Amino acid sequence: MKQMEGNNQKTVLITGASNGFGLEFAKLFAKDKYNLVLVARSGDRLKKLGYSLQDEHQLEHVCIIQSDLARPESPQEIYDQLKQKGITVDILVNNAGAGIHGFFHETELDRELEIIQLNVASVVQLTKLFLKDMVARNEGKILNVASVVSFMPSPLMAVYAATKAFILSFTEALQNEVKDKNITLTALCPGASDTLFFKRAEAENTRAAQGQLSSPEDVAKDGYEALMKGESRIVSGVLNKVQAGASNILPDSALASTMRYQMEEKPASENRSPESKL
Ligand SMILES: NC(=O)c1ccc[n+]([C@@H]2O[C@H](COP(=O)([O-])OP(=O)(O)OC[C@H]3O[C@@H](n4cnc5c(N)ncnc54)[C@H](OP(=O)(O)O)[C@@H]3O)[C@@H](O)[C@H]2O)c1
Repeated sequence: MKQMEGNNQKTVLITGASNGFGLEFAKLFAKDKYNLVLVARSGDRLKKLGYSLQDEHQLEHVCIIQSDLARPESPQEIYDQLKQKGITVDILVNNAGAGIHGFFHETELDRELEIIQLNVASVVQLTKLFLKDMVARNEGKILNVASVVSFMPSPLMAVYAATKAFILSFTEALQNEVKDKNITLTALCPGASDTLFFKRAEAENTRAAQGQLSSPEDVAKDGYEALMKGESRIVSGVLNKVQAGASNILPDSALASTMRYQMEEKPASENRSPESKL
């Protein structure tokens, strides 16, 4: 188990820190006195969050970077900006991500290509830039937010699930590549959670979104603890662990059928109470 010592001078970069898991990660790192680099498109939300966490926890520095990670230039710009400021990133949390719901033959290709740039390419770019520096220092940690759908094909969210399968595979491969160094990579695999994700993916009426949702606080805590222990993978939540485990047993066609059911719109009849069905 590789642990980093003392973190008063350490800095974490969190993408997608303006909401959901990213916001909860920012709170957890701030509580443990990490300096923060917060990245998202909503600069004002980031400033409000970052500066209030700085005051509350007496952090040495907080850096707000308003950036759209669906632009291929953004990762290099973020890296260059931090180099210019002399800020070393000790921990990288690749959390920003988005999905789009619908049949692939009906959804907009441009949006899907943006999602691939955000969920996959920007993670590869940021990891390339910051991992090289971590290897040079022989110290660092990376947390990549994957998903429980990393383990299974997901009809009606086909591109999204495929991006998350990439993240899991990529993270675990790199974890092995650096196993003899003082560097760890961790993949966090949450299930359906109570963030803006489903609404933004136009999937808020699906069975998955209308079912039992994990709290972003719990998911971030699981990810944070696994990252600090240097675990290669953490599936957050008991039911999600069962679902991920089932992917080792069931054929992909059965997993796809189950996921399609989850990703279909929940009919009003399923919302009726048992009494009203009598
Ligand atoms: N919620 C779930 O059920 C669930 C389950 C498994 C995995 N995940 C994954 O968890 C991660 C966090 O999602 P969440 O659930 O916390 O969703 P969320 O509430 O929608 O938050 C997404 C975050 O990503 C940022 N973001 C989105 N597009 C961006 C862009 N183009 N450039 C920069 N930042 C961008 C958003 O900030 P701005 O809008 O300000 O840019 C926001 O801070 C994602 O990778 C998601 O795929 C979510």
